[in-house]
Amino acid sequence: MAADESKDSGPDLAQGIALAELADGGKLAGHVGDEQVLLVRRGAEVFAVGAYCTHYHGPLADGLVVGDTVRCPWHHACFDLRTGEAVRAPALSPLTCWAVEQRDGKIFVRAQQAQPQRKPRQRAAGAAPGRIVIVGGGAAGFAAAEMLRREQYDGSIVMVSNDDAPPVDRPNLSKDYLAGNAPEDWVPLRRDSFYAENHIDLRVGTNVTAIDTGARTIMLADGSKLPYDSLLLATGAEPVRLSIPGADAPHVRTLRSLADCRAIIERAKAARRAVVLGASFIGLEVAASLRAREIEVHVVAPDKRPMERILGPQMGDFVRSLHEEHGVVFHLEDVAGAIDGKTVKLKSGGTLEADLVVAGIGVRPRLALAEKAGLAVDRGVSVNAQLETSAPGIFAAGDIARWPDPHSGENIRVEHWVVAERQAQTAARNMLGYGEAFDAVPFFWSQHYDVPINYVGHAESWDELTVDGDIAGRDCLLRYRRKGRTLAVASIYRDVENLEAEVAMERAAA
Ligand SMILES: Cc1cc2nc3c(=O)[nH]c(=O)nc-3n(C[C@H](O)[C@H](O)[C@H](O)COP(=O)(O)OP(=O)(O)OC[C@H]3O[C@@H](n4cnc5c(N)ncnc54)[C@H](O)[C@@H]3O)c2cc1C
Ligand code: FES
Repeated sequence: MAADESKDSGPDLAQGIALAELADGGKLAGHVGDEQVLLVRRGAEVFAVGAYCTHYHGPLADGLVVGDTVRCPWHHACFDLRTGEAVRAPALSPLTCWAVEQRDGKIFVRAQQAQPQRKPRQRAAGAAPGRIVIVGGGAAGFAAAEMLRREQYDGSIVMVSNDDAPPVDRPNLSKDYLAGNAPEDWVPLRRDSFYAENHIDLRVGTNVTAIDTGARTIMLADGSKLPYDSLLLATGAEPVRLSIPGADAPHVRTLRSLADCRAIIERAKAARRAVVLGASFIGLEVAASLRAREIEVHVVAPDKRPMERILGPQMGDFVRSLHEEHGVVFHLEDVAGAIDGKTVKLKSGGTLEADLVVAGIGVRPRLALAEKAGLAVDRGVSVNAQLETSAPGIFAAGDIARWPDPHSGENIRVEHWVVAERQAQTAARNMLGYGEAFDAVPFFWSQHYDVPINYVGHAESWDELTVDGDIAGRDCLLRYRRKGRTLAVASIYRDVENLEAEVAMERAAA
């Protein structure tokens, strides 16, 4: 996924534009040479930054300016207009900044500026820990290590992951990469040399078997121990395995890791027909990607409508018809009872032939380490507002963490990429003593063919659901309310309104 970054669009900002062309609070995209630049005016000040988000190149001119920041329309990354810093994930790399000159009622964009070094901020009392260990090499593990170095932490960082690959862009594994539309270099979050260059001791293919909170060590599968002063638990979630006869056949797969994805791609090369079990996000994204490979796809799920529990009936019906338009055949209110060779037997009595079966029937947080170590657990690792677990010095982030969400007023656990990264960024800063509360509004996106669904907030249930616009016309905003309060908003191609809803939720909780 990438915006059209066609060169030289908009005015030549090196030649200057009239200040009057840029209203206070306004944005304008132009170019300097063949670089696309976004101008933003805030009162008397004008900022010039790269025009495209460093995550997937979302066009920032279509985003939202909030204070001295700009938020990306696609997945809500946030950049500081003064420094270019990606202050909120999912973008992790800064925007380029340019010098701006105002003269004779005109604005001129001059030379690119060097990336300013972040100044270490005032920390709470106590020295930073000498040794930080991160268990998990996924969204949260990576974002924590990156943030520690960004904060100029110069102690030891060891990141232990039982994945075979260094941290990858997991959301891509059910979307472009699985569809065959993404080159290999889109998948790693950073090139391999990043870890050595940043003195991050990344140990892939390494299983952590226990944590000794008294001795402040973790145990590895080979029997060795690693000491820590502060620990981040970011073990994520694992797919729920099918427990029906035939589920262990080699053509029956689940999807979490790059290795899982490659195994599905290998099978897909020769497959004519696939059965996807489950009609939630991963199942349906997999269905869309397999359709892109021209495989016949049948989706079997117990639900009445896809995604109804999270998005409501109207969006559920739309998602179903969208997939049907692309040739997916649904078998709803039904489940697989057995897999016998290439035949999937349904509980309803029907049978489906399949060379490939992908089960997307949910995930479970990986809690075993936390439970064994005696940490407080409540359908997730319980953390406080600063994301610290019941054991001092041990933080948790991502799919495993259940935290006090100030927006819903509930202790919640979610399985969203952006939340995992942002929690890890907060946890990293708190390991350094900043004592910040995690207060980001939860956000996720899901992509089905050319239709992105953006969701901000958290609504496990609601008593009112309003639809503004036209879902079938792919131009809509749905509000999920309880007792008159908006808990969450889902939208298709209403990106600015989605961002505005995020800001409104932030302000309501402040
Ligand atoms: C295919 C797919 C597509 C997705 N698409 C989206 C999307 O579009 N939007 C969205 O918001 N979310 C999406 N998600 C969800 C998102 O990827 C997760 O919420 C996110 O990855 C959670 O990050 P995490 O760091 O908590 O866990 P993970 O990213 O799963 O990382 C956990 C890490 O811990 C390691 N680990 C676990 N146990 C141990 C152990 N004992 N020892 C050593 N290492 C261990 C694992 O190997 C892994 O490296 C998707 C998920 C999948 C699988
Ligand atoms: S493209 Fe900007 S946040 Fe994803």
